Amino acid sequence: MHKKKNKQDLSDHTSTYSMRYSAEEVPKYEMPDKSMPSNAAYQLVHDELNLDGNPSLNLASFVTTWMEPEADKLIAENINKNFIDHDEYPQIEMIHERVVNMLARLFNSPEDQTSVGTTTIGSSEAIMLGLLAHKWSWKNRMKAEGKDDSKPNIVYGADVHVCWEKFAKYFDVEMRSIPMEEDRWIINPELVEELIDENTICVGAILGTTFTGQTDPIKEINDLLVKVKKDKGWDIPIHVDGASGGFIAPFVYPDLEWDFRLEQVKSINVSGHKYGLVYPGSGWLVFRDEKDIPEDIVFKVNYLGGEMPTYTLNFSRGSSMVVAQYYNFLRLGKEGYTKIMTNVVNNAKYLAEKMMDTGLFENLNPTQLLPVVAVKLKDKQDFTLYELTDKLRERGWIIPAYTLPPNAEKVIIMRVVVKENFSRDMADMLLSDIDVAIEKLKKAAPKGTASKKKGVC
Ligand SMILES: Cc1ncc(COP(=O)(O)O)c(C=O)c1O
Repeated sequence: MHKKKNKQDLSDHTSTYSMRYSAEEVPKYEMPDKSMPSNAAYQLVHDELNLDGNPSLNLASFVTTWMEPEADKLIAENINKNFIDHDEYPQIEMIHERVVNMLARLFNSPEDQTSVGTTTIGSSEAIMLGLLAHKWSWKNRMKAEGKDDSKPNIVYGADVHVCWEKFAKYFDVEMRSIPMEEDRWIINPELVEELIDENTICVGAILGTTFTGQTDPIKEINDLLVKVKKDKGWDIPIHVDGASGGFIAPFVYPDLEWDFRLEQVKSINVSGHKYGLVYPGSGWLVFRDEKDIPEDIVFKVNYLGGEMPTYTLNFSRGSSMVVAQYYNFLRLGKEGYTKIMTNVVNNAKYLAEKMMDTGLFENLNPTQLLPVVAVKLKDKQDFTLYELTDKLRERGWIIPAYTLPPNAEKVIIMRVVVKENFSRDMADMLLSDIDVAIEKLKKAAPKGTASKKKGVC
């Protein structure tokens, strides 16, 4: 015999999609007055997010979209720890220190100097902190010499990521940007030499530009600055933006000199969340020596327990990505990173070669040092790269088409960032989809119209 259940019991078993929330408008711009059951809220948010692209097919971003299940577990286990609470979570700080040590050595920090560093939210924060330190070092130097310290400038190419321009704007430093040309998308020492003077706080050099994946000639720029120091007494530091290349070069090109082996390289940033192989929210900044950060910009706070020095833009932040970075270092070691980065570079080379075989594209990153396939259309075609990338999106591939920075704005390119999870098999599928998409676009285009419409190059 069973007893008849009352209404309350029945509502406990209401299925998710039979609740009124799935038939009502979802609050979007004002916090709802009433609560809703957790399963309804979860499902509403979860279902809406299904409209996002598939991260595994996101070839637009450098940012990691896959980690091992053990890493996912560590991330979940540490998600509730505020990184800044060093007194409360001393082991997190210990792990942070170990990662900074490992990175400094990976970047060939001289053994007789005391490198220092910090985690950041990403390379943007790391770059801004690095450049701020150089601004204050320059200011202190000028003051000590009794010189005007009101007109700092910074020299870099238009091939930099937007965060460099943000730094110049936000922190009031004159931006001396070296323009690109239609057939030059990186900088060179001659162009740097024209712009530097005694008010130059720093020269920026990129190990893998966001636009084409090419690398600025860092060693040659260093040689120029060493000579300038000798001839004119201007000690101008280089900050290397190794956002993506910082985890490729040490493993695939160990003999390439781009890091602290070069005398004027005083600070380096790298994105843990790019080829460091952890999820978004991880950047690193390493200084060659502790004297490269002026003491007066390191703050000491004591409101969380013991006295703690901080050099960050943000105070609170998650701990999980610091833990995840350490997991990767232990798990992969140099052996694992070398194998993964070699695969990634080889798969990028393969994709680029096959695309060149079609005869339609020109490779803008021919050295393929970094696993970025950047191409433009060779001649006028019956389709544009914007149309091609739109067509590929129908199959789920997320690939951007965009123009290069000034003065190369007329060059329209398409960029594929090859990441760890982009296997040879995926490269073959993408190549086949590119063929199909081009055929469809050619068939759909009235002869010659697409190229005339958008002026393809
Ligand atoms: C060369 C370079 N520098 C800096 C950044 C900014 O990095 P983040 O997104 O980690 O702030 C990027 C991002 O793609 C980049 O490619």
